[in-house]
Amino acid sequence: MTFPITRNRRLRRSAALRSMVREHTLQVEDFIYPIFVTHGEGVREEIPSMPGVYHLSLDQLKLEIQEVVELGIKSVLIFGVPAYKDAQGSSAYDDEEIVQQAIAAIKQWAPELVVIADTCLCQFTDHGHCGVVHVEEATGIAQIDNDQSLQLLVKTAVSQARAGADIIAPSNMMDGFVAAIRQGLDEAGFADIAIMSYSVKYASAFYGPFRDAAHSTPQFGDRKTYQMDPANSLEALREADSDVAEGADFLMVKPALAYLDIVRTLKEQFDLPLVAYNVSAEYSMVKAAAANGWINEQAVVLETLLGMKRAGASLIITYHAKDAAKWLKDSEG
Ligand code: PBG
Repeated sequence: MTFPITRNRRLRRSAALRSMVREHTLQVEDFIYPIFVTHGEGVREEIPSMPGVYHLSLDQLKLEIQEVVELGIKSVLIFGVPAYKDAQGSSAYDDEEIVQQAIAAIKQWAPELVVIADTCLCQFTDHGHCGVVHVEEATGIAQIDNDQSLQLLVKTAVSQARAGADIIAPSNMMDGFVAAIRQGLDEAGFADIAIMSYSVKYASAFYGPFRDAAHSTPQFGDRKTYQMDPANSLEALREADSDVAEGADFLMVKPALAYLDIVRTLKEQFDLPLVAYNVSAEYSMVKAAAANGWINEQAVVLETLLGMKRAGASLIITYHAKDAAKWLKDSEG
């Protein structure tokens, strides 16, 4: 008898053999590209903590959308910096505001592109929280009013759907947000508009650069009463369970890299399309290391995104989407 009996390397002998036994692949259809829109003209302002990501005014957005479509990317996720902020986040559900304008414009320029609206209040409230804040008179303690926040989120979702959004992506982590938005959309005549719920969203330090970009850092306190404790995984099942019961069409895990175990768990337990959000600091860390010449950016990014697919994600929201699409195209050669 020869030794070793098992020779796993047999299937790794050539590139062709390796490609035949490859279990997971990355394709451009996997990517959702986040875009930040802002008022003004000729604005293409790089976000300092996110090199390669920009605040774009509508005229610049048009060029960006052309590029995205040429690269074969199927979907974008829209964030906006509004002209005004108040305690109720009124600019979130203002039909004339920048997010609504951008959605409508994109649907004109590229009707086939799937436009996803991030539905939250934190970019639109002066206090930077994702819901309405009540300060208890006796104690001075600030509390998020869950149910009152829901009404405003519904108004936001309906306004975004009216502008032409294909998918509503509520990211605020209030209880009951999927049911409330589903009902609100249905009543407003948008029964066909899907909900991509940020089902399992952790209170994470990995959102730091995004909050610079979106100007959405909470002005007091933190998001720990609504976003999840990074120490918990059973809670992720409870969050996903309630979203499924409430009518979500997609589930999401956010952040991705430090939570790939949660991606795997949800993949095994639920049969909805699963989205991983490769968040801002995951992006910025790679960009910083690459800028220092410490890593091979292309190889690290593709390996990371593939890891998210392998863990069970069917879609990945990523700031690397344009680069990754280019690299995949080049490798088809
Ligand atoms: C809004 C929202 C956030 C992100 C997406 N939607 C920030 C937050 O919850 O503080 C973060 C995305 C990223 O870091 O890339 N609630």
